[in-house]
Amino acid sequence: MKIHSPLRTATAALCTFALASCSSPVGPGQIPPTGSKAQASTGSASGSIAKLMKDRGLSEADVTAALKTYTPTGKKDEYYIFASGGHGGNLIVIGVPSMRLLKYVAVFTVEPWQGYGYGDNSSKEVLAGGRRHNKDMTWGDMHHPALSETKGSYDGQFIFVNDKANPRVAVVNLKDFTTEQIVASPLIESEHGSTFVTPNTEYVIETSQYPAPLGGVYADIKDYNDKYRGAMIFHKFNREKGRIVPEQSFAIELPPYMQDLADSGKLGSDGWVFCNSINTERATGGVLEGNPPLESGSTKNDVDYFHVINWRKAEAVANTEGKTKVISGIRVIALQTAIDEGLLYFIPEPKSPHGVDVTPDGEDIVVGGKLDTHATVYNFKKIKALIDAKKFTAKDPYGVPILDFDEAIRGQVELGLGPLHTQFDGDGNAYTSLFIETKVAKWNVKELKLVDKISTSYNIGHLVAAEGDTVDPDGKYLVAMNKWALDRFLPVGPLLPQNFQLIDLTGESNGGKMQLLYDMPLPLGEPHNAQMIRADKLNPWEIYKPAGMDPLTKQKDPYAVEGGKERIERKGDTVHVYMTAIRSHFTPDIIRVKEGDKVALHITSIEQAHDATHGFTIDSYNLHASLEPGKHVNIEFVADRAGVFPLYCTEFCSALHLEMAGYFLVEPKAK
Ligand code: CUA
Repeated sequence: MKIHSPLRTATAALCTFALASCSSPVGPGQIPPTGSKAQASTGSASGSIAKLMKDRGLSEADVTAALKTYTPTGKKDEYYIFASGGHGGNLIVIGVPSMRLLKYVAVFTVEPWQGYGYGDNSSKEVLAGGRRHNKDMTWGDMHHPALSETKGSYDGQFIFVNDKANPRVAVVNLKDFTTEQIVASPLIESEHGSTFVTPNTEYVIETSQYPAPLGGVYADIKDYNDKYRGAMIFHKFNREKGRIVPEQSFAIELPPYMQDLADSGKLGSDGWVFCNSINTERATGGVLEGNPPLESGSTKNDVDYFHVINWRKAEAVANTEGKTKVISGIRVIALQTAIDEGLLYFIPEPKSPHGVDVTPDGEDIVVGGKLDTHATVYNFKKIKALIDAKKFTAKDPYGVPILDFDEAIRGQVELGLGPLHTQFDGDGNAYTSLFIETKVAKWNVKELKLVDKISTSYNIGHLVAAEGDTVDPDGKYLVAMNKWALDRFLPVGPLLPQNFQLIDLTGESNGGKMQLLYDMPLPLGEPHNAQMIRADKLNPWEIYKPAGMDPLTKQKDPYAVEGGKERIERKGDTVHVYMTAIRSHFTPDIIRVKEGDKVALHITSIEQAHDATHGFTIDSYNLHASLEPGKHVNIEFVADRAGVFPLYCTEFCSALHLEMAGYFLVEPKAK
């Protein structure tokens, strides 16, 4: 066994100085015998460690956890976590195992530091893609990030995210951690089963949650059964261009159950997608109109419908002339067509399920029971055999064929109260979050047998394991994403942070059992889900090269400015300012315009040194741009306020940072 030497040292310290916990060995072979050289040589260090432990009241498990997460200055983490920022509408990047915050990527919400949405044309263009019904959406409810995949493995190129509140998906390029595209989905009015990718990122899947008439039209809720619908959207992704191509996307109309999370088949089940739903009752709520509230109306039946969808066949149907109709700019396969073409099947599932997760081998699909204590393990081969034999037990009210539950499952495993989501390791184990019991259950997929449980603090929702959604998961680390923090951190008033808890899956220093390593408060919104990728799979740029690059196009901008070619030109009523930034000056540094002029700033950072970032603002004009090395921005605005406005560099770039400033002079209109 490979022994991590600092751990051994500290463990030796524990024993040498006879703290209470010393009698329980950390693991076989890890504690040197009394009087060994290791002890002798680290005697004084061990003494201070023992005192530290005593002073801070740390146990042996605490020290082990610290040693497993502590990352000395200059050392880098093994994994990246990409977590949704929830209501923050942005993406949060965290290093594992240190749990250090590395970046916020602005996606659906303006972000001041990078100037996202604060004036530059590129970010304004990206945000404009997310307008719905001709209205700017200035927040997003981000839930489920999905890394791009090649052959079912994360490839580190892109990450996709969704907005549950204002149905949209976005594309983030991991070369520079920049949002390049937001695509609004006006077909649907709510979503949740998003984003999930197919194994080669052919499509980014977005599924509606609360049914509504498709295409944003009105129908009274009394017409729910006839006019309200769900839909699963397949956003076509062009990897070369790094863009979703809406003209090549399509959707499948679904009955008005509330579709929930989805997952793509892989390996043997590639070409299929699986999705949960709730509310077979088609309850609508309406407590003042004599109806039961949604929560009781939608939970009367014992079962809901697990959706089985053949996306590869659906793609062929969508590409066949006359098989779709365009609603809100997207080709839609009507429900009846989906039934006739054999694209959609249902299987009963214990009522009000939540997570659906395909096993790494693609053979099984795990559904969390939520109100049931079991996870149900559906088997793809069994499902496929029933479909091929056309062996259906019934049809739903819309004519969708229903397969037999008992014949479609491999079994159920009793895990505890409130099973939600499942992740996998590379040793045949699954990890399922138990919301009500507030624990993680580890179980053996093949044997359907519970192996271990660990408490979380508190009310775990999603969980993420290293490479845990791929065909080749690493296991090793798991992060429990807890909804409640309660007594974990210093009090900050009634709104508490979320609590990410890092858990060691190796069992190396805990007798084979899962061990809690670290609590990380996240005070930004509710990060629902995350994905964890090996750090060496990413290769982000250090600078924009050549200088003058537009982060959106990843090309040299037509307005890029070279050193020595800075100038100010008036064309009609527009004043074009061709500016460069380099330590420690803007050129030009004085801009004269007249009140009412249109101003087009073209600013290139001609820096090519790593981390030599500048920022640009004109006071009181509510403009801000971040100028990373080599970046180019175009900012257009109207000089609608006469006066004298300092402009300055907003990033402490150099010893003469304060001197990196100038003036924007707006001469009043003649009266
Ligand atoms: Cu450039 Cu501060």
